[in-house]
Amino acid sequence: MTTTIYYFTGTGNSLSIARGIAAELDESELIFMPNLWKDEKIVATSERVGFIFPMYYFGLPQIVYEFLEKIHLDTAQYLFAGVDRDGTMDGVAFVQIEQLFSEKGKQLNAGWFLQMPNNDIPVDDLNSKEEIKEKLRQIKPQIEEIAEYIREKKNHPPPLPKKRIKSVEKTNTIFRKGVFTMDQNYYADENCSSCGICAQVCPVENIIMENTKPLWNNQCQMCVACINFCPEEAIQYADKTQERGRYHHPEITVQEIIDQKH
Ligand SMILES: Cc1cc2nc3c(=O)[nH]c(=O)nc-3n(C[C@H](O)[C@H](O)[C@H](O)COP(=O)(O)O)c2cc1C
Ligand code: SF4
Ligand code: SF4
Repeated sequence: MTTTIYYFTGTGNSLSIARGIAAELDESELIFMPNLWKDEKIVATSERVGFIFPMYYFGLPQIVYEFLEKIHLDTAQYLFAGVDRDGTMDGVAFVQIEQLFSEKGKQLNAGWFLQMPNNDIPVDDLNSKEEIKEKLRQIKPQIEEIAEYIREKKNHPPPLPKKRIKSVEKTNTIFRKGVFTMDQNYYADENCSSCGICAQVCPVENIIMENTKPLWNNQCQMCVACINFCPEEAIQYADKTQERGRYHHPEITVQEIIDQKH
């Protein structure tokens, strides 16, 4: 394999980007980070190695942080990362990646932010239908451009913020340290049909069905797959989501989210 793309996704945006890039490259493979994350040792063996994942609280998701800490990159010749997000604040994702890689004597050759629809309904409602359509339209040429960089192994300096790094890093660290128990706010309301889809889509097996209802087990990554993929819109996050819409990438099916887990 000449290119390996490790990706993480909750609602399919990052999967669709990773797939789009892989489709433009010869000899590429996609690996879902949660499938390797608990392994004792993770070794990348491809010449080009990339990471595609969503920005959480202005930085890395906890599972991605741990994955990047662990992975061995000794033989990688070209390293790239694509961080998708819904807003425009730069945050510290690339600062964190550079810190983690410098400990391995490595550096990113290329990095991009990608604007995608919002999925974080516990915090904010969905983008409008027009905004979603526009973001998904604009991402297509960007994917082709990114693939071209990777194919040619060209440098694209990652967008590093110049100001407020410490305070933003603190926000992300507080989020990552507390993420596992944020699922205390989830519950299934009276519309739950006991279908079990929420448990099936969870990338880290944090949901079990008990007495026909989902039970969250405090190992959450806040990927928001469960709340967005519930076919009955029966999952709520405290009092925040009763009036909000649900989102997943329109070209990614619930079955594809389930099937990416091994
Ligand atoms: C817990 C959480 C935190 C998020 N934090 C941010 C953020 O700080 N900035 C931002 O622009 N988007 C943020 N988002 C939005 C996602 O990064 C964005 O919608 C992404 O494309 C979702 O990717 P996915 O479909 O692959 O999971 C957040 C989403 C979640 C679930
Ligand atoms: S996906 Fe929704 S309807 Fe199905 S078991 Fe989970 S909460 Fe209930
Ligand atoms: S419980 Fe829900 S939000 Fe938490 S990791 Fe699983 S699917 Fe994602």
